[in-house]
Amino acid sequence: MSNVIAVLVTGAIVIYGGLQFLLHHTQDAKEPPPAYTAIPYLGAMIGLSRKKAKFYVELRDKHDLPIYTIRLPGSRLYIVNSPSLIPAVQREFKALAFPPIAANGAKTVCGSSKTANDILDTNVNGEEGDWGYSMTFYKRIHAALAPGPALDAMNRVMAEKISGSMDRLEGEKTVQLLEFVKHEIAMASTDSVYGRKNPFKDPAIEERFWKFQPGILILLMNIFPSLLAKDSLEAREFMTRAFVRYFEQSGHLDGSELINTRFKHSTEHKVPVEDIARFEVGNTIGILTNTVPGSFWVVYHLFSNPVALAECREELSKVISDVPTTVDNGETTTLRTIDMSQVKVSCPILLSTLQEVLRVHTVGISTRMVMQDHVLDGKYLLKKGGTVMIPTPVHHTNTSTWGTDVHEFNHRRFLPKERRHNPVSFRGFGGGTTLCPGRHFASTEILTFAAMLILRFDVTPVGGNWVNLTTNKADMWEATPMPDSDIEVKITPRDQKGKFSKWRILVTDSDKAMPLAAEDTQ
Ligand code: HEM
Ligand SMILES: *[C@@H]1O[C@H](CO)[C@@H](O)[C@H](O)[C@H]1NC(C)=O
Ligand SMILES: *[C@@H]1O[C@H](CO)[C@@H](O)[C@H](O)[C@H]1NC(C)=O
Repeated sequence: MSNVIAVLVTGAIVIYGGLQFLLHHTQDAKEPPPAYTAIPYLGAMIGLSRKKAKFYVELRDKHDLPIYTIRLPGSRLYIVNSPSLIPAVQREFKALAFPPIAANGAKTVCGSSKTANDILDTNVNGEEGDWGYSMTFYKRIHAALAPGPALDAMNRVMAEKISGSMDRLEGEKTVQLLEFVKHEIAMASTDSVYGRKNPFKDPAIEERFWKFQPGILILLMNIFPSLLAKDSLEAREFMTRAFVRYFEQSGHLDGSELINTRFKHSTEHKVPVEDIARFEVGNTIGILTNTVPGSFWVVYHLFSNPVALAECREELSKVISDVPTTVDNGETTTLRTIDMSQVKVSCPILLSTLQEVLRVHTVGISTRMVMQDHVLDGKYLLKKGGTVMIPTPVHHTNTSTWGTDVHEFNHRRFLPKERRHNPVSFRGFGGGTTLCPGRHFASTEILTFAAMLILRFDVTPVGGNWVNLTTNKADMWEATPMPDSDIEVKITPRDQKGKFSKWRILVTDSDKAMPLAAEDTQ
């Protein structure tokens, strides 16, 4: 028996020594220094799968390096800690590229055909010039979601849906808060994008979307999806068929500029309709997976913090205009109008609360593929085939950037008169060439939803206290995690007598963008 143990121990030592040797002898001295873990290669794999983005925060605290290397079997990750290196990474968008990662994500998550995949892969990173599906896609999507008439049109549909949600709440109701936010935001968002023939109008599609999501990590890593992500695949195929019907019935012609641009772009590049539908299923992830939890957390932090709630209500009350109006039964009442373009400029505390939600709750990681050996900032050799990562939690928890209260939720942190942070360090919407094009729409939607809810209702937990919620279930690809559990709440109208029964939300003039990212303040 002891012989067997001796052999096993010797074997382990030999393997360990071999791995150490490999690690040291294949790491170039000019590369960012490696972050050592107890077991070479394996240690990082275990740490990442158990702790996800928190692992990068731990390594930042332990080694305090501006940039370092994590070695995994067959690949290198270069992790950027120092904010001063972020612009250097974003500037080099050809050498440190995102399009190949996006194309790969689209293929694995959407399950597109070989025909469509070849179209995506053609000149994917623009090595042969600014042409092809991938190279011209993002510019068009950004234009379709930029402030202007197309965004105004989407916002109008959104505001009408949210108005409707709030009107339906009249009278006291008990609901699961997350369940409520999920449904209302899903419907407002997808109606705004897809128009009257929005496939999400069928409850079976909405249900499938939430079944699709948990399998995405398996699909991305492509590890036996038909076995390990069976429900997710079933949901994706179900949604694909609905989107095929939507395009065949020209549903998009009645939808937003965004959906029309996406459809036009794909048909111009001869992508088959079935694949356009598949890519659209992928797009629903972008539309919903951050906006839903983002709305939830804003509502949660406002109602669970009486000071923040009072301050935001006070600010909002100043932008409401009241006029007498006659309702159907001949009685007069007051029509209360809230203009969201006023909210954006006159309610800085509410806007700051949204930004603080994104600072505290974002777990996203910006990634870039190293296309050829590249010396970053004249200092660090990044080797071809490696992956550069900018983990948002690392930058959102740097005490030199945010101060010693970095781990607290401070709804006033982003007020112009508070301590100024380096704008590059706020990465709620990413940055550089991949900066989220949906940030104007998403922010207006979240602010509209939160503003209407706090103005019209009180929300209190049925259990008596607002409990602290964990977010351990979130997967590595997600940017804004959902809470692990729901909260049962009582929603009560603030105006018991129903005197102010008519509300109107105006969303015009979106030309004036909110300063949501470093790029918006330049
Ligand atoms: C609060 C809500 C949202 C958050 C926090 C958010 C965040 C992000 C982040 C972090 C990225 C990646 C940026 C990077 O890697 O540098 C991104 C990309 C993207 N987002 Fe959003 N997003 C939100 C809502 C939306 C909405 C509503 C839409 C569409 C209507 C949208 C469309 C996109 C698209 C198309 C990309 C890919 C851009 C590219 O690769 O160039 N997002 N978003
Ligand atoms: C935190 O940010 C400061 C600048 O704001 C930077 O000098 C420092 O390197 C960052 N911390 C780490 C561990 O990179
Ligand atoms: C929730 O977290 C806050 C801040 O970390 C803490 O002060 C409070 O005691 C916690 N509440 C509960 C119920 O655990």
